[in-house]
Amino acid sequence: MDRLIVEKSPPLNGIINISGSKNAVLPIMAASILSSGEVKLEEIPRLEDVLVMEQTINAIGLEVEEEGNNLYIKSTNNIKCEAPYELVRRMRASFLVMGPILSRKGRVKIALPGGCNIGTRPVDLHLKGFSALGADIEMGHGFVEASAFRLSGSKVYLDFPSVGATENIMMAATLAKGITIIENAAEEPEIVDLANFLNEMGARVIGAGTDCIRIEGVEELKGTSHTVIPDRIEAGTYMIAAAMTGGRVTIRNVEIEHLRPIIAKLTEAGVIITINENEIVIDGSNGIRHVDVKTLPYPGFPTDLQPQMMSMLSVAEGTSIIIETVFENRFQHVPELKRMGADIKIEGRSAVVQGVDSLTGAEVRATDLRAGASLVLAGLVAEGRTEVIEVQHIQRGYVDMKGKLERVGAKIR
Ligand code: EPU
Repeated sequence: MDRLIVEKSPPLNGIINISGSKNAVLPIMAASILSSGEVKLEEIPRLEDVLVMEQTINAIGLEVEEEGNNLYIKSTNNIKCEAPYELVRRMRASFLVMGPILSRKGRVKIALPGGCNIGTRPVDLHLKGFSALGADIEMGHGFVEASAFRLSGSKVYLDFPSVGATENIMMAATLAKGITIIENAAEEPEIVDLANFLNEMGARVIGAGTDCIRIEGVEELKGTSHTVIPDRIEAGTYMIAAAMTGGRVTIRNVEIEHLRPIIAKLTEAGVIITINENEIVIDGSNGIRHVDVKTLPYPGFPTDLQPQMMSMLSVAEGTSIIIETVFENRFQHVPELKRMGADIKIEGRSAVVQGVDSLTGAEVRATDLRAGASLVLAGLVAEGRTEVIEVQHIQRGYVDMKGKLERVGAKIR
């Protein structure tokens, strides 16, 4: 599949089931490197990025077996200290194997991830953390090497609450000697899921979900079985889709607490939301009003829902301001939305979105995962036919987006 064809659809109606979280499972798979036993992961989303991480940890020396939505990962006596460039190049999150390898083997060599479509995304904070834990860091041409006979606990202050740096340092600290404290840590639910997984393997991590995480190093981590949390960004994407088509959709298998920022913004925009235990009903029949959105680290509004929100606000009543504070270049969907008739002006990190009566279908390009999702959503309300090309970006992060939307009435093929 290289393109998705979306036609103006009726208000979406029905039930959408949410899959396991991509951004939770990737660090958890990397953390399996730390275990001397067997790990069973449940509710794995079958995605391109998950496959790349499977190949990465397999190349490092772990045995990986799939069975339905479960993944079995077994440690071997042959864990390598090097992650292949080919795999790290394909997915930035592969860099998350650095902390676990360094901690388990005392040495690691890994390719530096390049820039990506949403920004330069450096790894300086990851390296600052490893260095604070006593690792010698050496930068080569396109790779980084780190070594330490055994890491030792320390205090690490992050200049920005980076999700990846918090995860990488937290994983490295689990087998370090003594106590590590990460200050100004990221508080995302995916960090909490990783900490829970590490603790189930025998680690001593407390404070995950706050800005201060304390890790007491242990000698060894054992095997465990863990169910991955539901994907809050996938849920948010379909909540927005339901709202902007004026539909009524039940989103199942969600963790309501993780959705608070998006619930708050959709409610402000006039969407009627009913919350049940692990499902949420979105009713967009009252229409959508303008709202201002500023992306921030959790519990702020997620940058991973900013493009989808922009699609919705493009057809809302009134003028909305969207400020992107997390990534410096996450407005690549804007020229594509404008080609569909959206009225959006960019000024630095701010976008002024003047709602229009309707969009018009066009051929548009998915430049990255969430930008791609936002264009599919725009296609649902645009007059005529929208062709989204380069949909491999969407397949990296959404399990069967076509099928899930089709089952609630979307015209998509
Ligand atoms: N940053 C630095 N130095 C570092 C690390 C990060 O300056 O050493 C900067 C980045 O350049 C960026 C900001 O900090 O401007 C945030 O980056 P962060 O490290 O928090 O992001 P990440 O760990 O690389 C994860 C998700 C992203 C999500 C961000 C923010 C995974 C695999 N990826 O990335 O997800 O946007 O957190 O919430 O967990 C997506 O799913 O579409 C996606 C891009």
